[in-house]
Amino acid sequence: MIYRLGDFQFPSAPESLYPQTPQRPWVLEVGFGDGRFWPHFARTFAAVPNYLGVEISGVSLLKAHRRLKEAGLDNAVLTKLPAEVLVREVVPHGALDLMVVNFPDPWPKAGHEDHRLLRADFFRLAASRLKPGGAVLLTTDHDEYFDFACAQAEASGVMRVERVEPPAAALETKYALKWRDLGLRPQHARFVPTAHSEVPYSGYAPYPPQEDDPTVPHSIVQLPAQFDPRTFSKHTARDPRGVWTVVLLDLYASLRRSEHGSSWVALAHVVEGDLTQEVLIDVTAREDGSTLVRLGRFGGPIITPGVKAAVGVLTDRLAELGAQVRHRGY
Ligand SMILES: C[S@@+](CC[C@H](N)C(=O)[O-])C[C@H]1O[C@@H](n2cnc3c(N)ncnc32)[C@H](O)[C@@H]1O
Repeated sequence: MIYRLGDFQFPSAPESLYPQTPQRPWVLEVGFGDGRFWPHFARTFAAVPNYLGVEISGVSLLKAHRRLKEAGLDNAVLTKLPAEVLVREVVPHGALDLMVVNFPDPWPKAGHEDHRLLRADFFRLAASRLKPGGAVLLTTDHDEYFDFACAQAEASGVMRVERVEPPAAALETKYALKWRDLGLRPQHARFVPTAHSEVPYSGYAPYPPQEDDPTVPHSIVQLPAQFDPRTFSKHTARDPRGVWTVVLLDLYASLRRSEHGSSWVALAHVVEGDLTQEVLIDVTAREDGSTLVRLGRFGGPIITPGVKAAVGVLTDRLAELGAQVRHRGY
Protein backbone atom coordinates (compact mmCIF):
# COMPACT_ATOMS: atom_id res chain seq x y z
CA MET A 1 0.00 0.00 0.00
CA ILE A 2 1.24 3.52 -0.78
CA TYR A 3 1.05 6.06 2.03
CA ARG A 4 1.47 9.83 1.89
CA LEU A 5 2.94 11.61 4.91
CA GLY A 6 -0.58 12.67 5.92
CA ASP A 7 -1.78 9.04 6.00
CA PHE A 8 0.56 8.19 8.86
CA GLN A 9 0.15 8.79 12.54
CA PHE A 10 3.06 10.47 14.33
CA PRO A 11 4.33 7.94 15.32
CA SER A 12 2.53 5.02 13.62
CA ALA A 13 2.17 1.82 15.65
CA PRO A 14 2.43 -1.50 13.72
CA GLU A 15 -1.24 -2.11 14.67
CA SER A 16 -2.27 0.84 12.49
CA LEU A 17 -0.03 -0.02 9.52
CA TYR A 18 -0.32 -3.83 9.58
CA PRO A 19 -3.64 -4.62 11.29
CA GLN A 20 -3.48 -8.31 10.22
CA THR A 21 0.12 -8.93 11.33
CA PRO A 22 1.14 -6.39 13.99
CA GLN A 23 3.24 -8.90 15.96
CA ARG A 24 5.59 -9.79 13.12
CA PRO A 25 9.14 -8.44 12.92
CA TRP A 26 9.39 -5.05 11.22
CA VAL A 27 11.89 -4.23 8.45
CA LEU A 28 12.49 -0.75 7.01
CA GLU A 29 14.26 -0.35 3.67
CA VAL A 30 15.68 3.05 2.81
CA GLY A 31 15.99 3.94 -0.89
CA PHE A 32 14.40 0.74 -2.23
CA GLY A 33 14.82 1.83 -5.89
CA ASP A 34 12.81 -0.47 -8.13
CA GLY A 35 11.98 -2.76 -5.21
CA ARG A 36 13.92 -5.92 -6.01
CA PHE A 37 15.37 -6.48 -2.53
CA TRP A 38 12.19 -7.16 -0.61
CA PRO A 39 10.73 -10.03 -2.70
CA HIS A 40 14.09 -11.84 -2.41
CA PHE A 41 14.60 -11.12 1.29
CA ALA A 42 10.98 -11.77 2.32
CA ARG A 43 11.30 -15.29 0.90
CA THR A 44 13.97 -16.13 3.51
CA PHE A 45 11.40 -15.90 6.36
CA ALA A 46 8.74 -18.48 7.26
CA ALA A 47 6.29 -15.64 8.00
CA VAL A 48 6.91 -12.51 5.92
CA PRO A 49 7.91 -9.61 8.21
CA ASN A 50 6.10 -6.29 8.04
CA TYR A 51 7.82 -4.03 5.52
CA LEU A 52 8.12 -0.26 5.40
CA GLY A 53 9.88 1.13 2.33
CA VAL A 54 10.91 4.74 1.86
CA GLU A 55 12.11 6.39 -1.37
CA ILE A 56 12.42 9.92 -2.64
CA SER A 57 11.83 8.95 -6.28
CA GLY A 58 8.18 8.79 -7.38
CA VAL A 59 8.98 6.63 -10.42
CA SER A 60 10.76 4.08 -8.20
CA LEU A 61 7.82 4.11 -5.80
CA LEU A 62 5.42 3.05 -8.55
CA LYS A 63 7.77 0.39 -9.95
CA ALA A 64 8.38 -1.11 -6.51
CA HIS A 65 4.69 -1.00 -5.65
CA ARG A 66 3.86 -3.02 -8.77
CA ARG A 67 6.63 -5.51 -8.04
CA LEU A 68 5.53 -6.11 -4.43
CA LYS A 69 1.90 -6.44 -5.50
CA GLU A 70 2.80 -9.02 -8.13
CA ALA A 71 4.81 -10.92 -5.49
CA GLY A 72 1.73 -10.95 -3.22
CA LEU A 73 3.54 -9.07 -0.43
CA ASP A 74 0.55 -7.52 1.31
CA ASN A 75 1.96 -6.43 4.64
CA ALA A 76 4.06 -3.75 2.96
CA VAL A 77 3.79 0.03 3.17
CA LEU A 78 5.66 2.19 0.66
CA THR A 79 6.06 5.92 0.86
CA LYS A 80 7.74 8.75 -1.04
CA LEU A 81 9.54 10.78 1.59
CA PRO A 82 13.06 11.63 2.71
CA ALA A 83 14.10 8.73 4.95
CA GLU A 84 15.13 10.99 7.83
CA VAL A 85 11.59 12.41 8.09
CA LEU A 86 9.94 8.99 8.04
CA VAL A 87 12.30 7.47 10.61
CA ARG A 88 12.15 10.43 12.99
CA GLU A 89 8.43 11.22 12.87
CA VAL A 90 6.65 8.00 11.88
CA VAL A 91 8.66 5.06 13.27
CA PRO A 92 8.02 4.60 17.00
CA HIS A 93 10.87 4.34 19.49
CA GLY A 94 12.36 0.84 19.74
CA ALA A 95 10.10 -0.58 17.00
CA LEU A 96 12.23 -1.84 14.09
CA ASP A 97 14.05 -5.15 13.82
CA LEU A 98 16.08 -4.17 10.78
CA MET A 99 16.88 -1.09 8.78
CA VAL A 100 18.29 -1.96 5.35
CA VAL A 101 20.25 0.42 3.11
CA ASN A 102 21.38 -1.03 -0.22
CA PHE A 103 23.69 0.99 -2.46
CA PRO A 104 22.87 4.44 -1.06
CA ASP A 105 23.71 7.46 -3.21
CA PRO A 106 27.44 7.96 -2.50
CA TRP A 107 27.71 11.74 -3.01
CA PRO A 108 31.32 11.29 -4.08
CA LYS A 109 32.32 14.93 -4.64
CA ALA A 110 34.40 16.69 -1.98
CA GLY A 111 32.20 18.87 0.22
CA HIS A 112 29.05 16.84 -0.50
CA GLU A 113 29.34 14.54 2.54
CA ASP A 114 26.50 16.44 4.23
CA HIS A 115 24.12 14.88 1.68
CA ARG A 116 25.05 11.35 2.71
CA LEU A 117 22.43 9.47 4.65
CA LEU A 118 24.66 7.46 6.97
CA ARG A 119 26.07 10.16 9.20
CA ALA A 120 26.45 10.09 12.99
CA ASP A 121 23.09 11.88 13.53
CA PHE A 122 21.28 9.30 11.43
CA PHE A 123 22.92 6.44 13.36
CA ARG A 124 21.74 7.97 16.64
CA LEU A 125 18.23 8.28 15.18
CA ALA A 126 18.36 4.69 13.90
CA ALA A 127 19.54 3.41 17.28
CA SER A 128 16.58 5.08 18.95
CA ARG A 129 14.07 3.45 16.56
CA LEU A 130 15.55 -0.09 16.57
CA LYS A 131 14.49 -2.81 18.99
CA PRO A 132 17.14 -4.23 21.30
CA GLY A 133 18.99 -6.72 19.08
CA GLY A 134 18.06 -4.80 15.92
CA ALA A 135 20.57 -3.58 13.34
CA VAL A 136 21.21 -1.36 10.32
CA LEU A 137 22.50 -3.29 7.28
CA LEU A 138 24.57 -1.43 4.70
CA THR A 139 25.64 -2.87 1.36
CA THR A 140 27.58 -0.62 -1.01
CA ASP A 141 30.03 -0.81 -3.88
CA HIS A 142 31.51 2.54 -2.90
CA ASP A 143 34.59 1.95 -0.71
CA GLU A 144 34.99 5.55 0.33
CA TYR A 145 31.35 5.81 1.45
CA PHE A 146 31.65 2.47 3.21
CA ASP A 147 34.63 3.70 5.27
CA PHE A 148 32.84 7.00 5.87
CA ALA A 149 29.70 5.24 7.15
CA CYS A 150 31.72 2.95 9.45
CA ALA A 151 33.61 5.95 10.87
CA GLN A 152 30.34 7.86 11.37
CA ALA A 153 28.73 4.88 13.11
CA GLU A 154 31.64 4.72 15.54
CA ALA A 155 31.60 8.51 16.00
CA SER A 156 27.88 8.34 16.86
CA GLY A 157 28.85 6.65 20.13
CA VAL A 158 25.84 4.31 19.92
CA MET A 159 26.76 1.79 17.20
CA ARG A 160 29.16 -1.12 16.88
CA VAL A 161 30.38 -2.00 13.37
CA GLU A 162 30.42 -5.65 12.32
CA ARG A 163 31.90 -6.47 8.92
CA VAL A 164 30.03 -9.54 7.76
CA GLU A 165 28.69 -11.10 4.55
CA PRO A 166 25.66 -9.34 3.00
CA PRO A 167 22.31 -11.10 2.79
CA ALA A 168 22.01 -12.75 -0.65
CA ALA A 169 18.99 -10.54 -1.45
CA ALA A 170 21.18 -7.40 -1.25
CA LEU A 171 23.18 -8.78 -4.19
CA GLU A 172 20.06 -9.01 -6.39
CA THR A 173 19.07 -5.33 -6.47
CA LYS A 174 19.27 -3.25 -9.63
CA TYR A 175 22.44 -1.51 -8.45
CA ALA A 176 24.01 -4.73 -7.17
CA LEU A 177 23.60 -6.25 -10.63
CA LYS A 178 24.91 -3.10 -12.29
CA TRP A 179 28.11 -3.13 -10.23
CA ARG A 180 28.49 -6.89 -10.54
CA ASP A 181 28.46 -6.50 -14.34
CA LEU A 182 31.29 -3.98 -13.96
CA GLY A 183 33.24 -6.45 -11.83
CA LEU A 184 32.94 -4.44 -8.60
CA ARG A 185 32.57 -6.22 -5.26
CA PRO A 186 30.24 -4.70 -2.72
CA GLN A 187 31.11 -4.27 0.94
CA HIS A 188 28.73 -4.97 3.78
CA ALA A 189 28.45 -3.87 7.39
CA ARG A 190 26.01 -4.55 10.16
CA PHE A 191 25.64 -1.67 12.61
CA VAL A 192 24.42 -2.82 16.01
CA PRO A 193 23.27 -0.37 18.69
CA THR A 194 25.42 -0.55 21.80
CA ALA A 195 23.82 2.22 23.83
CA HIS A 196 20.38 3.67 24.37
CA SER A 197 19.72 6.66 22.16
CA GLU A 198 16.73 8.96 22.63
CA VAL A 199 15.92 11.04 19.57
CA PRO A 200 12.51 12.70 20.12
CA TYR A 201 9.70 13.13 17.61
CA SER A 202 9.27 16.74 16.48
CA GLY A 203 5.53 16.68 17.17
CA TYR A 204 3.90 16.40 13.74
CA ALA A 205 0.11 16.11 13.48
CA PRO A 206 -2.26 15.60 10.55
CA TYR A 207 -4.81 18.32 9.82
CA PRO A 208 -7.76 17.45 12.09
CA PRO A 209 -11.07 16.37 10.51
CA GLN A 210 -13.18 18.94 12.39
CA GLU A 211 -13.15 22.33 10.68
CA ASP A 212 -13.25 24.27 13.99
CA ASP A 213 -10.64 22.17 15.84
CA PRO A 214 -8.67 24.56 18.08
CA THR A 215 -5.42 22.65 17.46
CA VAL A 216 -5.24 24.10 13.93
CA PRO A 217 -2.60 26.87 14.25
CA HIS A 218 -4.34 30.24 14.22
CA SER A 219 -4.35 33.76 15.58
CA ILE A 220 -6.88 36.55 15.86
CA VAL A 221 -5.84 40.04 14.84
CA GLN A 222 -7.48 43.42 14.44
CA LEU A 223 -6.46 44.81 11.09
CA PRO A 224 -6.21 48.59 10.74
CA ALA A 225 -9.25 50.13 9.02
CA GLN A 226 -7.15 51.16 6.01
CA PHE A 227 -5.28 47.82 5.69
CA ASP A 228 -3.92 47.54 2.18
CA PRO A 229 -2.75 44.04 1.20
CA ARG A 230 -0.56 45.58 -1.53
CA THR A 231 1.83 46.65 1.27
CA PHE A 232 2.48 42.96 1.92
CA SER A 233 5.74 41.75 0.36
CA LYS A 234 7.72 38.53 0.29
CA HIS A 235 9.32 37.84 3.65
CA THR A 236 11.71 35.19 4.99
CA ALA A 237 12.03 34.23 8.66
CA ARG A 238 14.46 31.70 10.13
CA ASP A 239 14.21 29.88 13.42
CA PRO A 240 17.18 30.95 15.61
CA ARG A 241 17.73 27.24 16.49
CA GLY A 242 17.77 26.35 12.79
CA VAL A 243 14.70 24.07 12.93
CA TRP A 244 12.64 25.83 10.25
CA THR A 245 12.69 28.49 7.56
CA VAL A 246 9.43 30.17 6.55
CA VAL A 247 9.06 32.17 3.35
CA LEU A 248 5.82 34.13 3.07
CA LEU A 249 5.48 34.34 -0.68
CA ASP A 250 2.33 36.34 -1.31
CA LEU A 251 -1.08 37.41 -0.05
CA TYR A 252 -3.92 36.82 -2.48
CA ALA A 253 -7.50 38.05 -2.42
CA SER A 254 -9.58 35.04 -1.37
CA LEU A 255 -12.26 33.67 -3.67
CA ARG A 256 -14.09 32.53 -0.53
CA ARG A 257 -15.54 35.93 0.26
CA SER A 258 -16.62 36.59 3.81
CA GLU A 259 -19.84 38.50 4.40
CA HIS A 260 -17.98 40.37 7.17
CA GLY A 261 -15.32 42.01 4.98
CA SER A 262 -12.33 41.26 2.77
CA SER A 263 -10.47 37.99 3.11
CA TRP A 264 -7.08 36.86 1.85
CA VAL A 265 -4.96 33.76 1.53
CA ALA A 266 -1.23 33.78 2.25
CA LEU A 267 1.05 31.29 0.52
CA ALA A 268 3.95 30.11 2.68
CA HIS A 269 6.91 27.88 1.88
CA VAL A 270 8.05 25.99 4.98
CA VAL A 271 11.36 24.11 5.12
CA GLU A 272 12.27 21.87 8.08
CA GLY A 273 15.35 19.77 7.47
CA ASP A 274 14.45 17.46 4.60
CA LEU A 275 10.74 18.27 4.65
CA THR A 276 9.34 21.10 2.53
CA GLN A 277 5.66 22.08 2.50
CA GLU A 278 3.74 24.78 0.65
CA VAL A 279 0.84 25.80 2.85
CA LEU A 280 -2.03 28.24 2.58
CA ILE A 281 -3.00 30.42 5.53
CA ASP A 282 -6.49 31.90 5.44
CA VAL A 283 -6.93 35.48 6.61
CA THR A 284 -10.69 35.82 7.11
CA ALA A 285 -12.81 38.74 8.34
CA ARG A 286 -15.03 37.81 11.33
CA GLU A 287 -18.41 39.03 12.44
CA ASP A 288 -16.98 41.07 15.35
CA GLY A 289 -14.68 43.02 13.03
CA SER A 290 -11.56 41.05 13.91
CA THR A 291 -9.68 38.79 11.49
CA LEU A 292 -8.90 35.10 11.86
CA VAL A 293 -5.48 33.98 10.61
CA ARG A 294 -5.60 30.20 10.29
CA LEU A 295 -3.78 27.37 8.54
CA GLY A 296 -5.92 26.23 5.58
CA ARG A 297 -6.78 22.61 4.88
CA PHE A 298 -5.99 22.85 1.16
CA GLY A 299 -3.22 20.46 0.09
CA GLY A 300 -3.43 18.39 3.28
CA PRO A 301 -0.70 20.12 5.28
CA ILE A 302 1.00 18.32 8.14
CA ILE A 303 1.02 20.45 11.27
CA THR A 304 4.69 20.69 12.17
CA PRO A 305 6.68 23.16 14.30
CA GLY A 306 7.55 25.00 11.07
CA VAL A 307 3.93 25.23 9.93
CA LYS A 308 2.90 26.58 13.35
CA ALA A 309 5.75 29.06 13.05
CA ALA A 310 4.46 30.13 9.60
CA VAL A 311 1.17 31.22 11.16
CA GLY A 312 3.19 33.13 13.76
CA VAL A 313 5.41 34.74 11.12
CA LEU A 314 2.33 35.88 9.17
CA THR A 315 0.74 37.20 12.36
CA ASP A 316 3.90 39.17 13.19
CA ARG A 317 4.05 40.47 9.63
CA LEU A 318 0.45 41.71 9.85
CA ALA A 319 1.34 43.34 13.18
CA GLU A 320 4.20 45.16 11.45
CA LEU A 321 1.60 46.42 8.96
CA GLY A 322 -0.50 47.87 11.78
CA ALA A 323 -2.60 44.95 13.05
CA GLN A 324 -3.18 44.40 16.76
CA VAL A 325 -2.71 40.79 17.84
CA ARG A 326 -5.54 39.63 20.11
CA HIS A 327 -4.82 35.92 20.40
CA ARG A 328 -2.08 33.51 19.39
CA GLY A 329 -3.05 29.85 19.06
CA TYR A 330 -0.05 28.07 17.57
C1 LIG B 1 21.79 4.16 -5.92
S1 LIG B 1 20.09 3.95 -5.69
C2 LIG B 1 19.94 2.32 -5.03
C3 LIG B 1 18.56 1.74 -5.20
C4 LIG B 1 18.35 0.32 -4.67
N1 LIG B 1 18.56 0.25 -3.25
C5 LIG B 1 19.25 -0.65 -5.38
O1 LIG B 1 20.16 -1.20 -4.73
O2 LIG B 1 19.04 -0.87 -6.58
C6 LIG B 1 19.79 4.95 -4.24
C7 LIG B 1 18.31 5.18 -3.99
O3 LIG B 1 18.14 5.88 -2.78
C8 LIG B 1 17.11 6.85 -2.96
N2 LIG B 1 17.34 7.90 -1.95
C9 LIG B 1 18.34 8.80 -1.92
N3 LIG B 1 18.26 9.58 -0.83
C10 LIG B 1 17.17 9.16 -0.15
C11 LIG B 1 16.54 9.59 1.04
N4 LIG B 1 17.01 10.61 1.77
N5 LIG B 1 15.43 8.95 1.46
C12 LIG B 1 14.92 7.92 0.73
N6 LIG B 1 15.47 7.47 -0.42
C13 LIG B 1 16.58 8.08 -0.85
C14 LIG B 1 17.27 7.31 -4.39
O4 LIG B 1 16.09 7.86 -4.92
C15 LIG B 1 17.66 6.01 -5.09
O5 LIG B 1 16.53 5.30 -5.57
